[in-house]
Amino acid sequence: MSTTDADGTDRTDDPDFERARERVEALAPEITAHRRRYYEDDAPTVSDSQFDELMHELVDLETRYPELKKNDSPTEQVGTFSQAFAPVTHLEKLLSLQDVFSTDEVRAWADRITAEVPGEQYLCEVKIDGLAVDLVYERGRLARAATRGDGTTGEDVSANVATIAAVPQHLTGTDAFPVPALLEVRGEVYFPTADFTRLNEAQVAAGKAPFANPRNAAAGSLRQKDAAKTAERPLSFIAHGLGALDGFAPDSQSHAYAALDAWGLPVSPYWRVVPTIDEVFAYIEEFGEQRHRLVHEIDGIVVKIDDTGVQRRLGATSRTPRWAVAYKFPPEEVNTRLLDIKVSIGRTGRATPYAVLDPVRVAGSEVEFATLHNADQVKAKGVLVGDLVVVRKAGDVIPEIVAPVVAARTGEETEFTMPERCPECDHVLAPAAEGDVDLRCPNARSCPGQLRERLAYLSGRSCFDVDRMGYIACAALVQPLEPAEPVLTDEGGVFDLRIEELLPIKAVVRDPDTGLPKIDEKTQEQKVVTYFANKDGEPKKTAVQMLENLEAAKAQPLWRVVNALSIRHVGPVSAQALAEHFGDLDRIADAAEEEIAAVDGVGPTIAAAIKDWFAVDWHRGIVERWRASGVRMRDEAPDPSEALPQTLDGLSVVITGGIPGYTREGAAAAVKARGGKPTSSVSKKTGAVVAGEKPGSKYDKAVELGVPIVSGEDFEAFLASGPPATATEDDENEPE
Ligand code: IVH
Repeated sequence: MSTTDADGTDRTDDPDFERARERVEALAPEITAHRRRYYEDDAPTVSDSQFDELMHELVDLETRYPELKKNDSPTEQVGTFSQAFAPVTHLEKLLSLQDVFSTDEVRAWADRITAEVPGEQYLCEVKIDGLAVDLVYERGRLARAATRGDGTTGEDVSANVATIAAVPQHLTGTDAFPVPALLEVRGEVYFPTADFTRLNEAQVAAGKAPFANPRNAAAGSLRQKDAAKTAERPLSFIAHGLGALDGFAPDSQSHAYAALDAWGLPVSPYWRVVPTIDEVFAYIEEFGEQRHRLVHEIDGIVVKIDDTGVQRRLGATSRTPRWAVAYKFPPEEVNTRLLDIKVSIGRTGRATPYAVLDPVRVAGSEVEFATLHNADQVKAKGVLVGDLVVVRKAGDVIPEIVAPVVAARTGEETEFTMPERCPECDHVLAPAAEGDVDLRCPNARSCPGQLRERLAYLSGRSCFDVDRMGYIACAALVQPLEPAEPVLTDEGGVFDLRIEELLPIKAVVRDPDTGLPKIDEKTQEQKVVTYFANKDGEPKKTAVQMLENLEAAKAQPLWRVVNALSIRHVGPVSAQALAEHFGDLDRIADAAEEEIAAVDGVGPTIAAAIKDWFAVDWHRGIVERWRASGVRMRDEAPDPSEALPQTLDGLSVVITGGIPGYTREGAAAAVKARGGKPTSSVSKKTGAVVAGEKPGSKYDKAVELGVPIVSGEDFEAFLASGPPATATEDDENEPE
């Protein structure tokens, strides 16, 4: 058979074309199957970003070779619908959105529009990761609710939607916005993020499959045969568009939102109309940063042309409007295989299960491990070894497993059981106290795992900050292959190390994330190093520097010394509070538990842990050896002349937009140093809002509430002399 192109070119011998054809033939049914699992079964087996990638590839191939595109191609369809609920035809077709994955593509979209209709305003809003529904109000009464389905026909979920408190049964009219005769509203049903973990834990506890993400939870909750089940789920709703209308004709999207709001329909609090594409980018950046702090998940930003007349003029393709575009955030969630669950021992002996994953890129970095916290967590998440799992990385936070992809199970997966013994020293693991979920290795002093972690901690940034004494060095000091005895059996001797003892040490290289020996890819054997000596047995520069840095570290302030003791529950913040209050390590050791508990920022748990710690002989031994080596045991009284005048004492300050010469953190620190309290949201009690370049919605809120506003240029003056005088001088300035 000969294959001819649209322009008549014979493609028979074109190997690229043949490859493309094969790929299209494989991709189309694969995408259709993924769609079915997503829309009908609420049980997808690939992540959204992996789905987008497949779809993108197909669109690409079909654009290059239009003759490969079939009429029933998935690129021509909007979703799908299941037969389980009665079909309903939407009054007006529900369109989808054109997805783009870079700001360059957003610019290209805007350029195309500007060429046709210059000077239009953009309406930016968040893309809610939920489930689209179509609501029809007749004379203000909710007549029916349907899912999107294929865009033309959806499923009747009226009974289920009626259980969602956020969806009004009746609209209320106002003078400016009387209730229209007919209103078709589109919006998103979502599952609040805060409730999602709880739902999954309850699912697993009830022997049911957990949901892979809040979107699936929303879909699974809404599409219940028994609406009473839907009612048990905390679903919510936000409107984002209109369909058929009678008795209302909005001039703009923002005008429509004002009307929806007046009628009692929830609209997003985050939309913003902006006049330039640069402000669109600023919005994308702002909400990219905040995306995990909103009440619902978002998977991108939707940019619309605000003017409805212009929307009509620009029109739509069969699937998507030309007047809107969806910028999708880079994926933070992907699916990968859970190869194994292992257990690591932390510096306070806690045994923590962690996932060993088939390495995968998430949010810009390769992820191979993810913590699972404790055995109960593994159970609560319902993951089995061998599962396909959803892995996510929220911002710069540690990667975590969200849930297993239950639909992809083969039956070969196995349940994880917590080991009985410490994987590092073979002591029997036990809870520290009755009822504790965590198991601990009781061999605190010389379990090489615990000691390695404690050493790595004490040499780290929040303790003695010893450059050149990294994780591998710490492992070498406590777990050498040679000589047989380690140079350190607890951390007491760390400041007395001598170069001669270091030179013969040979040790395996360990992974700081897991503590496991690293394997050489070529030889498949453990990597062994002589860490402190070079080939000739002479000291390496690193070793000499490490000892010099240890010497210098003895003068570090008291809070760092306290933090370095690895007392349970004591971290840098409580160590600073303790050092500030007592000023002397011996005074901390001898203080009554009540006195410690009364220190601001400390409390009874920490106080008890401190008393327990100092009651152990070998712990006291560490302190004595450090003292003998010359480690600082007390802070000098602070010089009061160094403290900054407390011009903002107790004032809650919200910073929005860029302040010249300051980073966001730097500006907050400057406020704090003057006694102010940097706060994130504006309320009546906010003392001042500092509005720098391109301030966000917090500025509007401040204007609305009459909170004093300080411009970015006046920030220095504000720091130096305090808040500006306000008309209502007797307003409270209390921090929230
Ligand atoms: S507007 C004609 N705005 O994303 C354009 N959609 O991927 C209609 N979505 O079908 C959609 N948040 O279900 C719009 N702020 C938002 C949205 C939003 C989520 C959903 C919607 C749409 C899908 C397209």
